Amino acid sequence: MTRVPAGGVSPRPTSFTRATQAKGSAGGADVPTRIDMAKFAKFCKDMGFIYQSSEIYGGINGFWDYGPLGVELKRNIKEAWWQDMVRNPPPGPAGQEIRMVGLDCSIIMNPKVWVASGHVGGFSDPMMDCSKCRKRFRADKVWQIAYFDHAENVPGLVAVLEDTATLKEQGAADPYKDALKYVKDMQPKILVSVEADNQADAASSHTLSSTLKKGFKGEPRQVVFPASKKLQDRQPYCPSCGDGLLSEPRAFNLMFESHAGAVQSEENKVYLRPETAQGIFVNYRNVLDSTRLKLPFGIAQTGKAFRNEINPRNFTFRSREFEQMEIEFFCHPSESRTWYEYWRNLRKQWYSTLGIKSDNLVPREQGPEELAHYSVGTTDIEYLFPFSDEPQELEGVAHRGAFDLTAHAKASGMNEKFMYFDEERWNADAAGRTTNSFKEWMKSNPPAADVEKYQFTPHVIEPSAGADRFTLAVLCEAYTEDKVPDAKGNEETRVVMKFHPRLAPIKAAIFPLVNKDGMPERATELYRALKPHFNVFYDDKGAVGRRYRRQDEAGTPFCITIDGQTAVDDTVTVRDRDTLKQERVKVGDVRAVIEKALAPGV
Ligand code: GAP
Repeated sequence: MTRVPAGGVSPRPTSFTRATQAKGSAGGADVPTRIDMAKFAKFCKDMGFIYQSSEIYGGINGFWDYGPLGVELKRNIKEAWWQDMVRNPPPGPAGQEIRMVGLDCSIIMNPKVWVASGHVGGFSDPMMDCSKCRKRFRADKVWQIAYFDHAENVPGLVAVLEDTATLKEQGAADPYKDALKYVKDMQPKILVSVEADNQADAASSHTLSSTLKKGFKGEPRQVVFPASKKLQDRQPYCPSCGDGLLSEPRAFNLMFESHAGAVQSEENKVYLRPETAQGIFVNYRNVLDSTRLKLPFGIAQTGKAFRNEINPRNFTFRSREFEQMEIEFFCHPSESRTWYEYWRNLRKQWYSTLGIKSDNLVPREQGPEELAHYSVGTTDIEYLFPFSDEPQELEGVAHRGAFDLTAHAKASGMNEKFMYFDEERWNADAAGRTTNSFKEWMKSNPPAADVEKYQFTPHVIEPSAGADRFTLAVLCEAYTEDKVPDAKGNEETRVVMKFHPRLAPIKAAIFPLVNKDGMPERATELYRALKPHFNVFYDDKGAVGRRYRRQDEAGTPFCITIDGQTAVDDTVTVRDRDTLKQERVKVGDVRAVIEKALAPGV
């Protein structure tokens, strides 16, 4: 009998929530909202969710391995995505069926792909180097904090500096620059640099010691601005050593390079793909030809992507090797806004159906200054990860216009083969024309807008999600500490991973109450009956209360116990992880109970 290690044998992790919300519903639960990520990573390791890659050799920054529970969780996430988006997407905005097919492309492609896509020329981050410790930082992640003496000479304008959002709303082209010029002649008493994802996190990460505070007459006024914007032409300090100065931002390409073949020459240079999307674009014509799909339709792909991130951080949030779940949805330009809105709403809803609380999920429409030049709109679906006070990107839903297909059509010489002729629309309008030949009709020099009705380069809506990032969000969201009665009726703290049953690594655990009286035989029989359908776990070790706790920590939604009553009436107890309620269920109905909980919700 195979026994999947639930990892529950490791010592119970000590509490590491940073704060808790008010009492929740299930079992008087305290719902954790903030988590210490270092301790959370340790919990994930102890439980077998996520390990540091090659840990016995000191690990490698930005690379992670999934353990026995983690691999099941991530697989369930990818399978839920594939099932709900590719095989069974909900109807479109007008109630129409969504046509979606999948691809599985190679990680290494012809390097010309990355030239045409713009990645060779432009897939870079602006980096700043420290003159002393030589560390390298992403320019947009380094913040300067200037402390002015409020009592001395800081006029109200300094307060404006703190409120760049208002300046933005008021139409300032560059709020930081505009604000900084007002303090040109004011000397900050202290100027430091910190590394953080955003201004709010930077502000909260640095506080002055009480000794330093004594140097101020009044309460120090803290002003936070990006290091790329210089105050009084002063170079920013290094946030790591605090001693060196940071260089001007310089572009650093994020693609990993390798060589295909024996010779390590420039001609043999190849790249590990930094996104799965380009494999879809370059196969667009192949898919059209082999499937005879009609617009609108989507092509989906999941797979590894690699980015030589300068500063991998926040556990798996920003890694150098990660998996994406991407859709390129092709449509007529005139319908692209409707489809953009459809995908934006659907993708947010998808996360909610998998148990992400809507309070923690924030769609953020990018402002015009953030948008790529070809894009009509991009919405980042953001999640309030516990490591930040600001929501962070989980997925981007981008309107990419005709940018990618046009670029590949031109660079590859496919040209008009990448255009789409809408035969259905052409035939539907036949009544108003003298000819049914598009070629003949073109000779009459019709206006461009009329031609575009029938022949055009499709526009693309791209919902691009990270499988690892969502796995991390699911882990953070699921982690709960609550109070439950122990065997003697005393309250004890329980760690429970409240995964949505569809995502839970183990769906049900089967326990014989005691290892005698025919209970192990009946339990084994049930285990074997369920095993072909779900990932189930057999546990006959220790007190049943202890077995429950182990499964709670693994996030198993159901624990099924075979007891003395089973021999009498062929029933078992089914215990619900969240409500702790136990129901007696006929052995023959157990499978249906589990199946019901696993039904997709989109
Ligand atoms: N084709 C579009 C594209 O790749 P992106 O915003 O760069 O867009 C899409 O990436 C998603 O991939 C992100 O929303 C995130 O979930 C995931 N992702 C990107 N970089 C990542 C990294 N370094 N580590 C983990 N996930 C990452």
